[in-house]
Amino acid sequence: MRPKPPSGTLLARLEDLPDPGARASAWEGGAVLLVRRGESVTGWSNMCPHAGLPLALPDGRGLLHKGEALVCPVHGASFELDEGRCTGGPAAGDRLTAIAVIVENGEIRAA
Ligand code: FES
Repeated sequence: MRPKPPSGTLLARLEDLPDPGARASAWEGGAVLLVRRGESVTGWSNMCPHAGLPLALPDGRGLLHKGEALVCPVHGASFELDEGRCTGGPAAGDRLTAIAVIVENGEIRAA
């Protein structure tokens, strides 16, 4: 289980994320995967529910398919970005663990 950041923890700056795109936060060695779509950011525990491995690549990048689904680089499970439900691949029936975030003044912080 990855740690959850305390409320107010600075996770990244909005300008550091591709749009659309996903990147692991610097906090706790990438424990949170941040997904940006425009000015909207969602946060997820950087751990795939299939085998407990990181969703981000070793360089911190997350894989988005058409800007709409997060794809695990290990075995290819895909997850929709509203509630984190698996929509394909070996994690069927599972979902990502949401990390609530807020975006304010260009900063992404734990809620
Ligand atoms: S660890 Fe993610 S699909 Fe297997």
